[in-house]
Amino acid sequence: MPVYLKCPVVSQESLTPTHFLLKLKAEEICHQGLPGMFVMIQCWEPGTADPFLPRAFSICDYEKPAIEIFYKTWGIGTYWMTRLKPGDTVHLFGPLGKRFDLSPYTHRILIGGGTGIAPLVALTRFISEQKITVILGAKTQDELFFENTFRERGATVLLATEDGSRGHCGLPTEILNELIQREKSESLHITGCGPLPMLQKIWETAERAKILCQLAIESPMACGVGACLGCTDPFWGIKTCTEGPVVSNYSPP
Ligand code: FES
Repeated sequence: MPVYLKCPVVSQESLTPTHFLLKLKAEEICHQGLPGMFVMIQCWEPGTADPFLPRAFSICDYEKPAIEIFYKTWGIGTYWMTRLKPGDTVHLFGPLGKRFDLSPYTHRILIGGGTGIAPLVALTRFISEQKITVILGAKTQDELFFENTFRERGATVLLATEDGSRGHCGLPTEILNELIQREKSESLHITGCGPLPMLQKIWETAERAKILCQLAIESPMACGVGACLGCTDPFWGIKTCTEGPVVSNYSPP
């Protein structure tokens, strides 16, 4: 059951001028939360109620009794979040949404771009005994995040940058295509997060090759509990908050 919490800020780290990692003490979320799920954060100064609607964020990692939120600044709510410091308090609601499939598979391929990689970090904490390949994509090497965390959890990490500053020069989906040509489809499971065009390519590739695939999709949200229809995704035709954010091309156990 999702809960309303007042969470003390444990730490706030600036990874680039626009990317931040916020750690919040949230023991109840750690007890109930699983990778792929998200929380709604009320991003307002006490007494202002602006912005009125809470913002949805994937849970990037579980460091009991704290959770980590990886975010990029893009509006009034996230700029408010950048000013949080240890000792401040955040109001949140969660955990919400569907989680990733945690079943054992012969080879897991995790592919992510931009801040979309956040839920993949949490996933590697729960499937660390499996063979994992993580493909990270970004515009430039300064926006490749959590590479060391993935390696420390036993994953092979492959990198792609659009400007060629690190790893493969091009898109992470190009690495994915090469990888799946070398392995039998039935031994693979793909998990993807990131920008919509990338997710659509991953989905089409998985369908064509008959590979089990799950994606964590992103939509603007208002209520987070299926009541407002504000998060309906036109491509997958679902309410992202309750029927997602994880979508699958198979019926997960
Ligand atoms: Fe209201 Fe999903 S955010 S229905």
